[in-house]
Amino acid sequence: MAPTASPIDFEANVGRTLIVGATGFIGQFVVDASLASGRLTYVLVRSTSPSAAKAKTIKGSISNENLMKKALKDNQIEVVISVVGGEGILDQLSLRFLPSEFGHDVDRADPVEPGLTMYNDKRKVRRLIEDFGIPYTYICCNSIAAWPYHDNNHPSDVLPPMDQFQIYGDGSVKAYFVDGTDIGKFTVKVVDDARTINKRVHFRPPSNYLNINELANLWERKIQRNLPRVTITEDNLLDAAKENCIPQSTVASFTHDIFIKGCQTNFSVDGPNDVEASTLYPDMPFKTISECFDDFVVKIVDGPVNNMVNIVDNTVSDAVNRLTMTTCA
Ligand SMILES: NC(=O)c1ccc[n+]([C@@H]2O[C@H](COP(=O)([O-])OP(=O)(O)OC[C@H]3O[C@@H](n4cnc5c(N)ncnc54)[C@H](OP(=O)(O)O)[C@@H]3O)[C@@H](O)[C@H]2O)c1
Repeated sequence: MAPTASPIDFEANVGRTLIVGATGFIGQFVVDASLASGRLTYVLVRSTSPSAAKAKTIKGSISNENLMKKALKDNQIEVVISVVGGEGILDQLSLRFLPSEFGHDVDRADPVEPGLTMYNDKRKVRRLIEDFGIPYTYICCNSIAAWPYHDNNHPSDVLPPMDQFQIYGDGSVKAYFVDGTDIGKFTVKVVDDARTINKRVHFRPPSNYLNINELANLWERKIQRNLPRVTITEDNLLDAAKENCIPQSTVASFTHDIFIKGCQTNFSVDGPNDVEASTLYPDMPFKTISECFDDFVVKIVDGPVNNMVNIVDNTVSDAVNRLTMTTCA
């Protein structure tokens, strides 16, 4: 397959990278960053969804071993970045590997069910990679920079609340919030960095280390308005998890692990297999959570910050979106 015509000056056979899960939420950021870095970028897609115009498209599923072998060989792929969604986690086991992690360090996090099932799948992928001796990097990027709704389907385009804040527990447990563009940018950076081989790369930008009370205060400053706070207790979160409505109950179990148990911060990252992204790349700044919230305001109102009617409308339709597509066991 020949390289695409593009304003980017690709070097043939250098850094040829295949991204699986490119049409997904995290995948789009990784594809954009890979193209921006000048890597020759291929995407594996199952559907007819449009993919990034400058990337070469290969049709098929990661679970088709013969197709994968041929695609990797024919296109001289050097690196595969997998960003497949929840149902594809176990399909990834044929490659050199950044497996679909992109969240917590699953060996240290300890969610209740149904999140535990997904983490057990991710742990299984880790152990198989390690047993096979496949070189790996685990991206532990923590939370996406968005309001952490516990009843969410998916974090894409969620807007922070305009009616009230739901505060988990006493709101004092901190977490890291990382913009999607930075998840893509730092993921592509580690691919060329020998210091990250067989390591867990933790994203812990100091500027984005907040508890939910601080996150609420920041949003109030952005919208120039105070909102009431409602406490969501540990039991409320555990009850939501027990309902076993997928995917919201999975999100509730992660929310409990993050904001009650402190799973992002209750361990240090100085072990022999740990590296931290802002320490590895001190000259590459992370987008701050404050800048991310500025973007939300602009995106929501598509104009001046004080267009509150528009903000409320969007927030309501987002809440409706969050409550659709539910399967309860
Ligand atoms: N840190 C955070 O806050 C955060 C937030 C969200 C997700 N995550 C993590 O990020 C990772 C990606 O999740 P996501 O939400 O971005 O996924 P997503 O939006 O659900 O997208 C899933 C992608 O995987 C592809 N896919 C699934 N199975 C496949 C297969 N067998 N062969 C080829 N492609 C396949 C889908 O392709 P089709 O278009 O063909 O369906 C789609 O492009 C997951 O590990 C998730 O846990 C972390």
